Amino acid sequence: MCGIAGYVGMRDAVPVVVDQLKRLEYRGYDSAGVAAVGPDGALTIDILKTKGKLSALVSLVEGQLSESRCAVAHTRWATHGRPSTPNAHPHPDCDGKIVVCHNGIIENYLELRAWLTERGHVFASETDTEVLPHLVEEMYRHETPGDLEAAFRLALHRVRGSYAISMVSSHAPDTLLVARKDSPLVIGLGEGEFFVASDIPAVLPYTRDVLVLEDGDVVVLKASGMRLTHLSGASLERAPLRVTWDTAAAEKGGYEHFMLKEIHEQPATIRDTLRGRIVDGRVELPELNLTAEQARRFERVYLVACGTAYHAGLVATGTWERRLRLPVVPDLASEFRYRDPVVDDRTLVVLISQSGETADTLAAMREAKLRGATTIAVVNVVGSTLAREADAALYTQAGPEICVASTKAYTSQLTALSLLGLYLAGLRGHLTPADELERVTALEQLPEQVTSILEKQADLAAMAEVFGDCHDFFFLGRGLDFAVAQEGALKLKEISYRHSEALAAGEMKHGTLALVTDQVSAICISTQRALREKLASNIKEVKARDATVLAIARESDHEVGEYSDWVFRVPDTLDELMPILAIVPLQLLAYHIARNAGCEIDQPRNLAKSVTVE
Ligand code: M6R
Repeated sequence: MCGIAGYVGMRDAVPVVVDQLKRLEYRGYDSAGVAAVGPDGALTIDILKTKGKLSALVSLVEGQLSESRCAVAHTRWATHGRPSTPNAHPHPDCDGKIVVCHNGIIENYLELRAWLTERGHVFASETDTEVLPHLVEEMYRHETPGDLEAAFRLALHRVRGSYAISMVSSHAPDTLLVARKDSPLVIGLGEGEFFVASDIPAVLPYTRDVLVLEDGDVVVLKASGMRLTHLSGASLERAPLRVTWDTAAAEKGGYEHFMLKEIHEQPATIRDTLRGRIVDGRVELPELNLTAEQARRFERVYLVACGTAYHAGLVATGTWERRLRLPVVPDLASEFRYRDPVVDDRTLVVLISQSGETADTLAAMREAKLRGATTIAVVNVVGSTLAREADAALYTQAGPEICVASTKAYTSQLTALSLLGLYLAGLRGHLTPADELERVTALEQLPEQVTSILEKQADLAAMAEVFGDCHDFFFLGRGLDFAVAQEGALKLKEISYRHSEALAAGEMKHGTLALVTDQVSAICISTQRALREKLASNIKEVKARDATVLAIARESDHEVGEYSDWVFRVPDTLDELMPILAIVPLQLLAYHIARNAGCEIDQPRNLAKSVTVE
């Protein structure tokens, strides 16, 4: 969702910022643009922008922009105003001397726009962002002539909403001004150069030292140095992060798509999620700073998230309630805060998120905190807003996930939630050492078991041929298998655009069975031992209506083949861990169906990786 890039230093700035935008493409966008301060002494700013893909911007830029030492660039995902060239960023002020790229939403932009229009400013786009350069211009002209930084601060004091901003100006041609509030922004620190970006992978080819900005930060960047301050003007000191992941981890590494690469990374990412957290057969999560006394005070638990992360919460709900002897409620973050949930200081709210920047999940966390709850973020992105603002963060250690469709982040979330469930149960005194040992041993076997599923990828590619012409899929399961069915259906629909719908299998005959014909495929997940026979009846119901059935079942289930057209078997483990194995064939099936159909797998239409607006 929108990407910002910026550079100041001795290199030719435009190729650098365009390269950075390429590394941010995964965030989703509909237009792109670049602004570069003219060559020394020219005191102009050249802006080029266009609707559509980055390749269109690259063609536009070729040979058109002189060498520059300071530039900003942007990929826009429309929120205010259609996807169009005029609405693309960067946006200039009236004279083209102050140019801004912005992610987020300026909530009071209508009011500001009216005020600025009265003062003679002329607007060229429908965006909320465009008020920013005009507001800085207004401040610079009338309040702080000659002091651009002060004008920038004054302007920021007047806006309400969220922003990550990078600004260039011919009033200070050697300077990049950046600021952050509720929208991610990082600065890569080079030798005599700085790289601004919405996400770390965009600076990794240039530097591994990264400053993660926090809300309220305002930074002045020049080739000669950097000044980090608070919006109030106070100086700040913060140690940079040394990024240890390999640059290749943020690139495709030889796979045709990021999605396939990320599916194949799962043995490693599950292992990384477990690493250091199982000590002598016991789960240790010291990063939570949670005492047994605190854990025993909880009277209810909410697991709150969006999309795939919500599906991870559904799986955890299924096992936590039994284990913690507490009511455990899964909730969609977009619903949570609007329904006046029962939350108080005896409530634990666990927020699950890959990006840690999902607007609804952040709002749910803030609501839970306001009501006195203890909040734990199960989150992938280190230093993200969710990680910083929750009372504690349990990192999922999946590494950068580039494909919009979440795969490795999901299995890491399931792994982390399994650890967290065991840890809480231990603190609350509901787990015997033998029980814990059995469970952590099973967890440690998962990476190898996932590898064995990945080795059978060719079978799923063949299945994708069988199901390739079908446009109506029902994903059926019971208990934890229903949670997996929901994630399997989401994977297929988001990347292949097929209609796919998950149902608790017992619900079919209460309505949806009316849709079942020989044109329908039923993907039936059958891994929960206690529910196997019940699910078998549901499979027979859809088979009797001529649907084609693919069953995902345990290796030890020798009967499922008798009533299904096709079976894909996954290794046996504890029922509660089966979702981590059962989802892998569903990810691969979705991938191959989408690939065969020629879909844009890593960036599905209309979707963004990180949904930073409500
Ligand atoms: O970054 P988050 O985990 O908070 O994102 C939540 C959802 O937007 C996300 O899980 C989405 O559903 C997936 N990309 C779908 O594959």
